[in-house]
Amino acid sequence: MTQEQLAKLFEETRLTSVNICEPLETEDTVVQPIEDISPPKWHLGHTTWFYEKFILEKFENNFKPYNEAYNYLFNSYYESAGVRAVRSTRGNLSRPLYKEVLAYRENVNDRMLSLLSKKVDTEVLQLLELGIHHENQHQELLLTDIKYILGVNPLLPGYKTMPDNEIMNIPSLDLEFLPLEEGMYNIGNNGSSFCYDNELPTHKAHIASIAISNRCITNAEFLEFIKDAGYERFDLWLSEGWTWLKENQITAPLYWFKNEGKWKYFTLHGLQDLHPNAPVAHISYFEADAFAHWKQMRLPTEFEWEIASVQFTNTNKANLLGNGILTPVPAQNYDFIGNVWEWTLSSYLPYPGYKQPDGAIGEYNGKFMINQMVLRGGSCVTPDAHIRNSYRNFFQTDKRWQFSGFRLVKEQLL
Ligand SMILES: [Fe+2]
Repeated sequence: MTQEQLAKLFEETRLTSVNICEPLETEDTVVQPIEDISPPKWHLGHTTWFYEKFILEKFENNFKPYNEAYNYLFNSYYESAGVRAVRSTRGNLSRPLYKEVLAYRENVNDRMLSLLSKKVDTEVLQLLELGIHHENQHQELLLTDIKYILGVNPLLPGYKTMPDNEIMNIPSLDLEFLPLEEGMYNIGNNGSSFCYDNELPTHKAHIASIAISNRCITNAEFLEFIKDAGYERFDLWLSEGWTWLKENQITAPLYWFKNEGKWKYFTLHGLQDLHPNAPVAHISYFEADAFAHWKQMRLPTEFEWEIASVQFTNTNKANLLGNGILTPVPAQNYDFIGNVWEWTLSSYLPYPGYKQPDGAIGEYNGKFMINQMVLRGGSCVTPDAHIRNSYRNFFQTDKRWQFSGFRLVKEQLL
């Protein structure tokens, strides 16, 4: 991308984050119900700090921080950027005020655009592109965190009114299995546009002959698992998953509520009847794995997923943030991209030959390659430009607040 294109994208990205928060009341922007969830106000401050800390501090003439304290408040996990507030205390920030965070954003926007008004180093452009993708990631987190903040409020307020969309009334594809041939395949990002360091280097991976489901598992299919006592049968669960289920009294996906014998689920549009044909979302790795056991199948590895997503790709419009639906919809196509993130059987590990970048940027991905599983494909709240077949998301096995679902694999025994 040229400097001009990046500058324009920067302005659009900055505006989108503020627009995402626009339907909220100020009180919604401050709370942190659990450690995983960051208050929307903090997301707006942190994404701003990222540009100030990693670009302006190094490249702006006569740099002076907007507020000395913000480096402490809005640093997420960068050890090389100095001491920071403990993550679990982000909800304690009644100050700075929401309007003060917006003023901080305006200030950094102006200084960034001033810097970009003259020809800058390639390094600035690389950091700017990373900053834009970083903010895209936080736009998705903003929406998943907003959903959690509203979804644990006993009043269950909606974030936005559901736009009329006929796709919700169309049945999903029948469940079928697509064959993948045994062989060596190329894995990783081989394009010329932006990707994260964890998608590199490209390398070969061998897979056995399998068949992968043409869509993700639906709410109706998951309900069958519940009706068959899926949450009560230890034999279906990983030991750690069974302990998690017992300790947390898990009996259904996150945001599912049983009301007078009828299942409802909380969406960004408020509480609704459970949609039978939409893909199940907000489940942990443990739940996906237990369902697969119940079906005597398994989850795909991230390599199988990537190969299938390339081989069976389609050009239909994916359900991403740009759709504005903000909830998973019945699958009309294979939906490798969009709708729900898909848990894979793969641990989040470096690819062979992975090199962690130097400096603070090296802290972006590499240091998290432990005790997490890979998810692929993006969700209904992933910004459209922020997903690709090689994209590797990662979460711990018990996390459910992302739009996480799954598809299945059958071994093709010879
Ligand atoms: Fe961040």
